[in-house]
Amino acid sequence: MKAAVIPEVNAPWEIREVATPRPGPGQVLLKVHACGLCHNDLWTAQGVFPFPSCDPAITGHEAAGEVVEVGPGTTSRQVGDRVGTTWVQATCGRCSSCRGNPPLTGSSGMTCAAPVMTGLNVQGGHAEYLCVAAASTVLLPDGLDYVTAAPVLCAGYTAWSALRASEPQPHERIAVLGIGGLGHMALQYARASGFETVALTRSPDKHALAAKLGADLVVRDGEELREAGGADVVLVTGTSYEAATDALRGLRVGGRVVLATIDPVGSFRIGPNAPTFWARGQRVLGASHDGLGYLTEALDLVARGDVTPMTEVFPMERITDAVDKAARGEVRFRAVVTY
Ligand SMILES: NC(=O)c1ccc[n+]([C@@H]2O[C@H](COP(=O)([O-])OP(=O)(O)OC[C@H]3O[C@@H](n4cnc5c(N)ncnc54)[C@H](OP(=O)(O)O)[C@@H]3O)[C@@H](O)[C@H]2O)c1
Ligand SMILES: [Zn+2]
Ligand SMILES: [Zn+2]
Repeated sequence: MKAAVIPEVNAPWEIREVATPRPGPGQVLLKVHACGLCHNDLWTAQGVFPFPSCDPAITGHEAAGEVVEVGPGTTSRQVGDRVGTTWVQATCGRCSSCRGNPPLTGSSGMTCAAPVMTGLNVQGGHAEYLCVAAASTVLLPDGLDYVTAAPVLCAGYTAWSALRASEPQPHERIAVLGIGGLGHMALQYARASGFETVALTRSPDKHALAAKLGADLVVRDGEELREAGGADVVLVTGTSYEAATDALRGLRVGGRVVLATIDPVGSFRIGPNAPTFWARGQRVLGASHDGLGYLTEALDLVARGDVTPMTEVFPMERITDAVDKAARGEVRFRAVVTY
């Protein structure tokens, strides 16, 4: 099969002929049709996060495709099923975290001593074929095409999980910080759920787009958010904890700031920007892939047309263009590679 191989840290990705995987017990083999490019893929390839330990190094965890073979003992999926895959494929079942029998989530994956992580320690989805644990797949809603489904499998899943984690109340105002892959989905999910929605973006060229995606208001930073009356929830979906710290200026009494962002260098601080955080009864929450039920909800909202990922589609031969453009922050808003 052909796959997008990352030769070494920071090297351009290359389409190479590699061995096609075969499904083991409990696995399915997918013909990948589309795989989104997450910011975490970039950081993995740049060595900001640990470089993929699979050989050859193939990353990607937003793969949507068709089951073409099932491994021994696989009963939940059949040949011909249209499925989406997820980043955490399995946990070890034996470590101290697994002994609590947590569900398959970003949290259980990150706390397990020996998890199976798509595109990190096993082959990822930027390839023509991919073997994954059947239990980590979801059946795609009928009529939802692969390119549109792909960004939901991480960006949409995380954005919806972050909104769910904030437990928004009917009258509340939701701000989304960082309008990228996750952020443009979070904005739409909040709007589709009926909330007044604020986009917080440092990119002036995104103001009109954010409004088009459903933002009732677009602001530049925490101070502008505060001047505009603040928000009950800030969904932090950009790449910067510094920006999240700044956004605290605009958090209302009883407000929640939800960190979906993974910032490998900056820090989130409750300091001078939020001097009365304690008295205002505010909370800081983390969010990740918080359960396959949420992923199903996120996919259903897209299948119904309430939320539509904005994608730029690249055929696999143009993988380096996709990676370069995403790294420059110029993709609006998710690069999806077709295989
Ligand atoms: N929790 C999870 O499980 C999970 C899953 C996937 C991704 N993530 C994390 O989510 C974040 C976003 O991923 P993505 O794929 O959506 O990335 P992306 O498409 O590249 O978007 C990132 C956004 O961050 C903002 N940004 C970039 N540089 C910034 C800076 N220096 N200061 C402030 N804001 C900046 C930009 O928004 P504006 O132009 O609007 O300012 C940009 O659009 C990453 O940190 C990633 O690690 C977490
Ligand atoms: Zn991701
Ligand atoms: Zn474990």
